[in-house]
Amino acid sequence: MRSINRRDVLRIGGIAISETVLAWLLGARADAFAQTTVPNSTSGLHDWKLESGESRLAISGKTLSLLTYNQSFNAPVLRAKEGDTIRLTYTNRLNKPSNLHLHGLAISPEIDQPMLEVQPSQSHTYAFELPKGSGGTHWYHPHVHGLVAQQMAAGLVGALLVDSDLDAMSELKAAEEHLLVLKDLAVVGEQIKNHDMMDWMNGQEGNLQLVNGAYKPTLRPQKATLRLRLISASNARYHRLKLEQHPMYLIATDGGFLEKPVMLEELLLAPGERAEVMVQLTRTGSYRLQNLPYARGIMMMGGMGGMNMPDNTQPVTLLTIVAPNNPKLTPLPTGFRSIEPLNLSKVQKTRRIVFSEKMMQARFFFNNRSFDPARIDFTGKLDSLEIWELQNLSDMDHPFHLHSYPFQIIDRNGKPEPYRAWKDVVNLKKNDLVRIAVPLSHFTGLTVFHCHIVEHEDRGMMGTLEVRR
Ligand code: C2O
Ligand code: CU
Ligand code: CU
Repeated sequence: MRSINRRDVLRIGGIAISETVLAWLLGARADAFAQTTVPNSTSGLHDWKLESGESRLAISGKTLSLLTYNQSFNAPVLRAKEGDTIRLTYTNRLNKPSNLHLHGLAISPEIDQPMLEVQPSQSHTYAFELPKGSGGTHWYHPHVHGLVAQQMAAGLVGALLVDSDLDAMSELKAAEEHLLVLKDLAVVGEQIKNHDMMDWMNGQEGNLQLVNGAYKPTLRPQKATLRLRLISASNARYHRLKLEQHPMYLIATDGGFLEKPVMLEELLLAPGERAEVMVQLTRTGSYRLQNLPYARGIMMMGGMGGMNMPDNTQPVTLLTIVAPNNPKLTPLPTGFRSIEPLNLSKVQKTRRIVFSEKMMQARFFFNNRSFDPARIDFTGKLDSLEIWELQNLSDMDHPFHLHSYPFQIIDRNGKPEPYRAWKDVVNLKKNDLVRIAVPLSHFTGLTVFHCHIVEHEDRGMMGTLEVRR
């Protein structure tokens, strides 16, 4: 056993852990809740190494075989600042091809290479500069078509945080920051459950809803004003988040800060989405961060009880926050930046993407077609503005994601969005028609858009976009 004491455990994660979890943590792997980081530099040049492989780790009292980055679950947190130079070397120690996708970074498709396959025991280096405007809460995961769902389900997800000048704002500095990676695991015995037909249809939801790799942990902040950075990193589980007796102030979405905080009673995060919220703990006490039931139109089948049925009918406690005893509240920021509205009179191209499915075959389509890496679905012009009309004619929700080109939501079913934000994932409920404005800025190249229920992506719900000069 590693020599690590209880105080270290509490400090490393920045989050305290309930006594029961602590007991097995200390007996097993003390840093299961820790947010490990890869060695970082202050020079603005980062040489990061991530290696995916198989590990046996203690999670929620069980020893599980997982797929991990650098043998840790939660995976290492990558953190850098806008303008920094990144050299990220990924080595594949799995027995299947994989790669790394840095989800949320508006970097060139030529670097992202979502269709690259890094073969077993091979490496690939992703070298790039973090562009201005890339600040935010992002994440990374594998992206080889057909293998994403199984690799992510087995544990391969990690956080990527990009700081910007805005993070130096005094109100943000005064708050206590915590990263919360929301990731479930479907565990059977000591293994991650193999995907069955229902999992391919609905997307697999796990029976363990973890926060930073820990089951129902307790957060004991020192300060009363919190900044929570949330990553919805499960294959298919939605997070309809509510903090008991506290409003949340949404300050950032997928693409970084909003213009100003927006007060919310609850926050829905579809798979792939991120958000940052601030919370003010005005009274002492314990408050549960809950995942409330959310109906996303999944297929139900009789006789498959137990853990085959995703349990979405009850609120689930993800985390308990214990307010400090003498809470000193610091003020919330009043504003962050201006987000320019996109000038829709300049739109050069309007496209429509219709979502459909053949549920019983677990096949999913955009415009009636399955993903074909050799086919270019859309060709766009560099530096032009497009409108994409997304229409969900299937029976379930699908979170739509586009690489490399952040977008703004114009309206949902004709209703304008209540605030402007940069996004890279937008959820569509059954029958929704959502219009997004997509500036094809900065980069040429071939990239992808897909449903972020990764089973659906693996089963065809992905398309290609090539941006040309
Ligand atoms: Cu997080 Cu192409 O996805
Ligand atoms: Cu992505
Ligand atoms: Cu989907």
